[in-house]
Order: sequence, then C-alpha cells, then structure tokens
Amino acid sequence: MTSNPGNLTIRECRPDDLAWLESLYPASFPEEDLLPLVRAMWNSSEEILSLAGEKDGIAAGHAVFTLGSIDGTERKIALLGPVAVDPHHQRSGIGSAIIREGLDRLKAEGIEQVFVLGDPAYYGRLGFLPGATVKAPYELPEEWSEAWQYLSLGNTDIAKEGRLHLPDFWMRRELWGE
Ligand SMILES: CC(C)(COP(=O)(O)OP(=O)(O)OC[C@H]1O[C@@H](n2cnc3c(N)ncnc32)[C@H](O)[C@@H]1OP(=O)(O)O)[C@@H](O)C(=O)NCCC(=O)NCCS
Repeated sequence: MTSNPGNLTIRECRPDDLAWLESLYPASFPEEDLLPLVRAMWNSSEEILSLAGEKDGIAAGHAVFTLGSIDGTERKIALLGPVAVDPHHQRSGIGSAIIREGLDRLKAEGIEQVFVLGDPAYYGRLGFLPGATVKAPYELPEEWSEAWQYLSLGNTDIAKEGRLHLPDFWMRRELWGE
C-alpha cells in the first residue's frame, strides 16, 4: 500500500470493491459500457494488477494492468486499461498516481513493456509513446494508430514486432474499434 501527497492511498483491489466499480464506471464513462469487461476481469483467474486509489479513505479511482505476452516470444508485457476516476475527483492527480504506482510494481516484477490504447495527450504525460509497432490483438482503425502507445520499463531491447497475446476477456473485437 502506497501513500501519496494529498491523502491519496493506493492499494490492490479487494473482492468487496466490485460494488463501487459498478458505480464508478458508468459515472466516468457515461457513453461507454465497460462493466462487462470489468466484471469479466474480476471473475477471471488470469493475472491482473487491479489498483484502487482512495482519497481521504473514499475509493475514487481505479486502473487495471493485464499481464500478457507477445505471440511467439517469452517477453512479459502488460496492457493498461481501463482507467477511471470518479468525476468529482478528476484532474487532481489520482489517475496519474495510480498508473505510476502500477508501472513501478510491474517494473519490479520484470515486466518489460506496457501498452495502452488511449489519448496520447493524457498517456504521453506518463511516458507512453505513440504509434506502437507491436500489434494490438485486432487490427486497429487507421485513425487510432497514434492512440496505440507503449512504454518501456527500463529495457532498451524492447519488442518492436509481433502481436499481443492477452487473456480472453480482451479478445472482443468491439474493445478495439469496429
Ligand atoms: C482520464 C482519467 C482517467 C484521468 O484521470 P485524472 O485523475 O482525472 O487525471 P490526472 O489528474 O491524473 O491528470 C490530469 C491531467 O490529465 C489530462 N487529462 C485528464 N483527462 C483527460 C482526457 N480525458 N483526455 C486528455 N487529457 C486528459 C489533463 O491535461 C489534466 O491536466 P490539467 O487538469 O492540468 O489540464 C479520468 O479523468 C477519467 O476517468 N476520465 C473519464 C474516463 C476516461 O476518459 N478514461 C480514459 C482512460 S481509458
């Protein structure tokens, strides 16, 4: 468990967190239903790092890293997402703090590279670089190529080709654009 300035505590999610996640996601993503993905992750035995950020003891943000590999290699990678911060607590550093904590933990576990599909304006601040050349599980729409980002966790010999291999809950076409 890590404490940050501003009474923010970051901890791994517990089984009883599902109820607040079920209210957090519809509030943070009013136009996108991410609950099927979140529930599938929750019920899976695959390896994920699911972190909650508590502000003054109240759960206010969440981020998940899914551990995976690159097809045909032994490389250990992770995919970041989804990330959600309660609308009342957005833009106060919670999302960034949770993600940084997750990246530190993954690095300590020997994960080489982290991928994310999201806004480069946000993830670029955390060190992600646009235009990853390792492929997403499904072909992405051309206009999302910059949004497909990667971050090396200190390894200079990072993978530049191949395709991500991820647990079944990520293997739904609609999660990667129609
Ligand atoms: C995107 C999100 C996870 C960021 O978490 P957060 O705790 O609000 O963000 P932080 O406080 O760590 O960082 C704030 C900075 O990120 C940037 N930022 C925040 N939300 C952003 C967004 N949706 N797009 C681009 N940049 C964003 C801003 O530059 C902001 O800095 P500023 O206030 O000085 O302009 C959160 O706002 C959220 O849940 N939004 C709704 C859901 C969503 O869009 N999720 C996308 C991730 S999959």
